[in-house]
Amino acid sequence: MAIHILFRGPQDRNDCWRAMFADALPNLVWQHWPKVTDKAAIELMIAWKLPRDYQQDYPNLKVIFSVGAGVDQLDLATVPEHIQVVRMLDPGIAKGMSEFIALHVLNIHRGTFQYIKANSTATWEQLPTLANSQRRIGILGLGNLGQAAANTLHNLGFSINGWSRIAKQLDGVRCFSGMEQLEDFLSQTDVLVSLLPLTKQTQGLLDTSTLSLLPKGASVINVGRGEQLVSEDLLTLLDEEHLSFAILDVFDTEPLPDSNRLWQHPNVLVTPHIAAITQNETAGKALVDNVHRYLTHQPLIGLVDRSLGY
Ligand code: GLV
Repeated sequence: MAIHILFRGPQDRNDCWRAMFADALPNLVWQHWPKVTDKAAIELMIAWKLPRDYQQDYPNLKVIFSVGAGVDQLDLATVPEHIQVVRMLDPGIAKGMSEFIALHVLNIHRGTFQYIKANSTATWEQLPTLANSQRRIGILGLGNLGQAAANTLHNLGFSINGWSRIAKQLDGVRCFSGMEQLEDFLSQTDVLVSLLPLTKQTQGLLDTSTLSLLPKGASVINVGRGEQLVSEDLLTLLDEEHLSFAILDVFDTEPLPDSNRLWQHPNVLVTPHIAAITQNETAGKALVDNVHRYLTHQPLIGLVDRSLGY
């Protein structure tokens, strides 16, 4: 019997991925939500958010492939145990994320935000520069995206520290791990980049107690999830000039409400969750490869460990 796959997402992406699947795996039956002709036949689903009542509507569902790198939006606790959940490991996301992080590390490093302010008062003032090797970039989260960013920043000559839940060894990265080494890591970080997944352990991790461990003058880039950062604590540390700048791409409420103080703060740059966008071509290829693995009973790439939440 043919395997049915259901895609829930926009038409242009549907058209691209349907064509890629038709080409690579012609025996598969592709369906585009909400026009589902045979619900009981659906075995695989590709989605960012899950349709309501999917557990009842698709009783033969075996695997959910997230369209994004994160899976917190799927509310894992409600996904039945027999359904496997897979993260999107798209080289296009990794490239976009590395570019965004490198762009803003360089903006911080080269004083772009100070020069934008100086422009508004026609002030000609040359700021002191620091060698790249003297700027310590601390990457929280050393998965696929953290490693790609570390590599890009290392190639730009920065000094790279990395922190992960479990110990890792990576070329060009001074690795720290576990809560017991978090303080050591933070106290040696001039630009903190958070790329952590959202889990019970990472929720609210970046608050006064952790952010104040960063050296005076440090900056923060959050591209993980908004819930990891207590923004009121961040704002206080910026106001006290303990921290210099924050570039925030993710928020606990998105879109960020107009009234949120982050919009107004002169040393905060808000971007609307655009650091890394799933790229149709590269992500489509990753999906085709993974579905092929499923069909040939090989382990799936990016399979989520329910106990860890990512
Ligand atoms: C976006 O945040 C993603 O998870 O890909």
